[in-house]
Amino acid sequence: MAFPQQFLDELMARSDIVDVVGSYVQLTRKGANLFGLCPFHSEKTGSFSVSPDKQIYYCFGCKKGGGVVNFIMEEENLTYPDAIRFLAKRAGMEVPEEEGDREASRRRQRLLDLNRDAARFYYQLLQQPEGRAVQAYLDKRQIKKSTAVKFGMGASLDSWDTLLNAMTKKGYTKAELLAAGLIVQNKNGGFYDKFRNRLMLPVIDTRGDVVAFGSRVLDKSEPKYMNSSETPVYSKRRVLYGLNLAKKTKRPNIILCEGNLDIVTLHQAGFDNAVASMGTALTVEQTRLLSRFTKELVLCYDNDNAGKIATERALQILNNSEFSVKVLQLPRRLVDGEYVKQDADDFIKFQGADAFERLLTGSENGIEFRMAQVAGKYDLASDEARVTYCEEISGLLSSLPNAVEREIYSARAAELARITPEAMKLEVQRAFKRRMAREKRAELRKDLNPAAQLQPKERSLRYDNLRSARAEEGILRLLMMDDSLFPEESPLKEEEFSSPLLGRAFALLWAAHQEGRPMSPGLLSGALGTEEASHIAAICQQPESSQNAQRALADYIHIVKTEAKKRAGKDIDPLLAATEKYKDKKGTGGKQYG
Ligand code: GTP
Ligand code: MN
Repeated sequence: MAFPQQFLDELMARSDIVDVVGSYVQLTRKGANLFGLCPFHSEKTGSFSVSPDKQIYYCFGCKKGGGVVNFIMEEENLTYPDAIRFLAKRAGMEVPEEEGDREASRRRQRLLDLNRDAARFYYQLLQQPEGRAVQAYLDKRQIKKSTAVKFGMGASLDSWDTLLNAMTKKGYTKAELLAAGLIVQNKNGGFYDKFRNRLMLPVIDTRGDVVAFGSRVLDKSEPKYMNSSETPVYSKRRVLYGLNLAKKTKRPNIILCEGNLDIVTLHQAGFDNAVASMGTALTVEQTRLLSRFTKELVLCYDNDNAGKIATERALQILNNSEFSVKVLQLPRRLVDGEYVKQDADDFIKFQGADAFERLLTGSENGIEFRMAQVAGKYDLASDEARVTYCEEISGLLSSLPNAVEREIYSARAAELARITPEAMKLEVQRAFKRRMAREKRAELRKDLNPAAQLQPKERSLRYDNLRSARAEEGILRLLMMDDSLFPEESPLKEEEFSSPLLGRAFALLWAAHQEGRPMSPGLLSGALGTEEASHIAAICQQPESSQNAQRALADYIHIVKTEAKKRAGKDIDPLLAATEKYKDKKGTGGKQYG
């Protein structure tokens, strides 16, 4: 994984963070920094900052941050070496490859090749007599040949080793088949095909690589769907089934469904903009992926309770995002005097594509859906229910950021509750004030509790000694701001830092300082994890005065050394350490820092 330092230094010099981030995020200058909409969480006002001086980015909203390499790792979903290669390509530089890297990327490519070969193999089986059972199932589900081809569907046979044998014959090892999740090992060490007697649905990413498989049984047995486990080439949070096709749609939006076969039916009926998250709730990673292709989403989850919960969760994730979101509510279907659940697939089969098109054009926006949900909970014929309905709905309406929307939907809610629009408006205003007061209180609590604020967001990085850690942070900031403040010899040893992360960062920066290399948090990315890099970026974006820097540095060093000595004392005398600990707990309630 080690690229030559000289190469990395030049790559960093040629990969200005403003240029790189600027090609993903629209940035506007505000003082020394640039701001934009954070690509890592959904927001309407920019809390994402980029510092050209420090060569870091940091989001005040989701607290992600780091250098240019961390940005590419996060945004392009790449490992460190791949992010380096990505940046090198961008900068027009040749990458001095290491044996180990070549090995890792070769292994990844092998898995992708294996998946592709497996998909081809399943596809061919479907065309042959052995695939008859799966073909019969496709016929039963009214899936046309051309649709099956478009989705690359295939058949796995009712056998333990058909795929295993075929792929071994092609030169793949059992280890590779296992890593791809295509075979499973039994207790006695033997191997067998994971997918048997199923309709095979390859999962293809937007680059066109087969990254995984979904599969469905042909009868009523369980489990109905069996999907690939997570592998080095597949993370279900980051993939949407059907997006490889939907990304080419001419329709203005993308429809999100629950089931793989809903997608198939929708595409077959002309809705080539449908995708599904395979058995998971919509993730932030998926919304980021979608934002590359559309600005409008239509949620079309099943019309049962689980579907309603999924819709609500998706709306929460998409709340305050740049997407405009609509909810397409499928009606229930009357069967033998009873209303039953139906999904997009059922609806198209029974009501047809035109009816679906009408639902699509008429679908409600998110707030309408949520209002209907609230209304559905109350029997508005009763006065008591009308009162509680007004209470709850005003809370919901007060969360609308737009005054016009608040007005329009308040009037609608008033009509439903049979009260005057003025009364409802008052109710909403009161709810709005209550909300503001609540947020202010929460803000205040945070201000009054600086200890909590200073702690890293990530639990595993928590500081044991806040007093020392604050000084350690200051030392890192000064070292990066002006390394001429530092003496020839290192003023501190890594072990003297109370926070292992800060100690490690210091050691890395010090090594760079001694070799006369440029020092930026960006350079640390290779040696730090994502959360670690975010935390270092958070530290570096805090202000550090350049006045009296020499004095501040001396104070910081003194604090760190004193605290380190205290720790060392405890190490020497475990009995004393134990009693101290006991005293700490009893005396201060464990709350006093610094
Ligand atoms: P059918 O119409 O009955 O074929 O199913 P569907 O496509 O409508 O899917 P359903 O609504 O039952 O489930 C939605 C999605 O959740 C499926 O497409 C699968 O990706 C996933 N899922 C459903 N059942 C299972 C299961 O038993 N195991 C796993 N791992 N995933 C499942
Ligand atoms: Mn279905």
